[in-house]
Amino acid sequence: MSDWKNLVRDVPDFPKTGVGFKDIMPVLADADAFADAIDALAAPWRDARIDAVMAIEARGFLLGAPLARTFGCGVVPVRKPGKLPGPVLEARYALEYGEDALQVQADAVAPGARVLLVDDVLATGGTLAAARALADGLGAEIVGASVLMELAFLGGRSRWNGTAPLHAAWTIAG
Ligand code: PRP
Ligand code: MG
Repeated sequence: MSDWKNLVRDVPDFPKTGVGFKDIMPVLADADAFADAIDALAAPWRDARIDAVMAIEARGFLLGAPLARTFGCGVVPVRKPGKLPGPVLEARYALEYGEDALQVQADAVAPGARVLLVDDVLATGGTLAAARALADGLGAEIVGASVLMELAFLGGRSRWNGTAPLHAAWTIAG
């Protein structure tokens, strides 16, 4: 197991009872582990000609921006509602209780731009599916998605419909 994985901290019962939280802050705080984690996110896409990384608020920002620099492309924030000015597209998604939404600026990328979706964790898959819907709404070409960790036991991958690859740098079985 590489060092960055060793620095992911398991926090039981956060943010609420029964949830096992994967805390990536120690990874980000360590220069070598941070670099290794970004390399792991980037590895499958080095030759993919990415035009923009679409990074999902909030922890996805911390990974998406440096990832975009490794590709030499731009970064597009996918944000919680009310944070982005101007015309926006919105996609709603279900939470365990209730629902939330994500937005992207309507002119964030040109139609046909080759985009990569990036987040820290794939859990139930609702967040990534909403971001994907936004990329579709922009008329982007979705090259794929890259997440640092996939909590496979939650089955989120089944919500990643379509043919573009979904890469997890670390798949956690259970
Ligand atoms: C967390 C995590 C992913 C999402 C995964 O974000 O960072 O974005 O949940 O869950 P899902 O696959 O079940 O949709 P969250 O919105 O909790 O917090 P953040 O703003 O700190 O990233
Ligand atoms: Mg998040």
